[in-house]
Amino acid sequence: MSSYDVIVIGSGPGGYVAAIRCAQLGLKTACVEGRETLGGTCLNTGCIPSKALLHASHMLHEAEHNFAEMGLKGKSPSVDWKQMQTYKQSTVDTNTKGIEFLFKKNKIDWVKGWATIPEAGKVKVGDDVHEAKNIIIATGSEPSSLPGVEVDEKVVVTSTGALELGKVPNKMIVIGAGVIGLELGSVYSRLGAQVTVIEFLDAITPGMDPEVQKTFQRMLKKQGLEFIMGAAVQKTEATKTKAKVTYKLRKDDSEHSLDADVVLVATGRKPYYDGLDLEKLGIRLTKRGQIAITKNWETDVKGIYAIGDVTEGPMLAHKAEDEGMAVAEVIAGKHGHVNYGVIPSVIYTHPEVASVGETEETLKAEDRAYKVGKFSFMGNARAKANFAGDGFVKILADKETDRILGCHIIGPAAGDLIHEVCVAMEFGASAQDLAMTCHAHPTYSEAVREAALACGDGAIHM
Ligand code: NAI
Repeated sequence: MSSYDVIVIGSGPGGYVAAIRCAQLGLKTACVEGRETLGGTCLNTGCIPSKALLHASHMLHEAEHNFAEMGLKGKSPSVDWKQMQTYKQSTVDTNTKGIEFLFKKNKIDWVKGWATIPEAGKVKVGDDVHEAKNIIIATGSEPSSLPGVEVDEKVVVTSTGALELGKVPNKMIVIGAGVIGLELGSVYSRLGAQVTVIEFLDAITPGMDPEVQKTFQRMLKKQGLEFIMGAAVQKTEATKTKAKVTYKLRKDDSEHSLDADVVLVATGRKPYYDGLDLEKLGIRLTKRGQIAITKNWETDVKGIYAIGDVTEGPMLAHKAEDEGMAVAEVIAGKHGHVNYGVIPSVIYTHPEVASVGETEETLKAEDRAYKVGKFSFMGNARAKANFAGDGFVKILADKETDRILGCHIIGPAAGDLIHEVCVAMEFGASAQDLAMTCHAHPTYSEAVREAALACGDGAIHM
């Protein structure tokens, strides 16, 4: 039996970051992971492999659409799907090996296998029982199921199967116009598939700024994606090579169906804690099935903590990472802090979509007085030179104090640009603070400054 200060269960972005921070703070730490490799869903079958395919398919799109205009002549590249899969896998491998290296460097034991918690203070893996003064549950999430839809990961797939298709399908149906559906839908659309997205609501990407939603949907349509909105999927019927999707339009209850080679089910994820027997341990769940925690990420059982997708809040890798660092600080007797008001969210399509903080809807609902500063990428020289003039930056600031309350960006490098606003918000900056900060020319980030200027006396280039 080995004995640890902390055992982390799960090595996704929440778990491995928690383990590293615990070790850095002098705690004897182990991390239990049952997969062959470290990194969890994000690194192995989620964020990272999908980003490799997004990058490759974007390069193809650039070659097909913009190269000739830039004076780059020649045949556009064709898709070697096997090689693209190899590239994707090597991206995953370098990252998972990177975590293995970091574990060794920080003297963290990787306990291989699936963990159970027989009682507080003990973690069982296979036949071995390890003692742990503190346990951190960081077991992540899994795709939620949809009634009438049976996933086989070949024809009817979740994001996991969608990253490993045998070939690029001719026709693909995506159920759900959320982050996963639109990221992977646009990958396959750019690689040549005819993609139809079926969405229950009347707008894509629920919770996003409505102006961003509309612009985003228009851009995706222009790229060739088709949308059936206000439609509830009833069932799928699959053979070995095809599937039929039946859906009902909400406006008139009429039933329709559509065929495709592959159906991607992307209707949300749910917390994953199979085999942990939480109820027996006395760990309470919320109404939505997440592990209930205190503000110090502790469950109802002393010494057992939970972070990331198994708990409340957005299911985002970086939210889990922040919680991982914070819970380690708490366990080490320090002060752990996560600012839940400043957690950015990014959709890695082309163009990217990014947002942080309040939307106009949330501000209206709270009856708060705000002002809007907006700037189009059409007024940004760098964006125009790079065929990226579509989209805008919108900053929301308090009408009285000018304090930045939120930001919504659709356009080039939105996922990177959002962070200067996050830093500004973290420091409680006003729109004027951002507007008075010198921004290098010519950069995309000037569009953020111009939106901040638009909160005051006006943008210069509009
Ligand atoms: P989601 O919650 O973002 O979107 C699901 C969509 O499916 C919603 O628009 C919903 O209205 C629709 N839907 C539900 N039932 C339906 C039905 N019967 N028929 C038609 N439409 C239906 O879920 P998604 O995209 O699966 O993502 C899961 C989680 O993973 C999210 O929390 C997301 O934040 C996270 N994620 C984040 C990424 C990022 O940060 N870039 C990338 C991938 C996932």
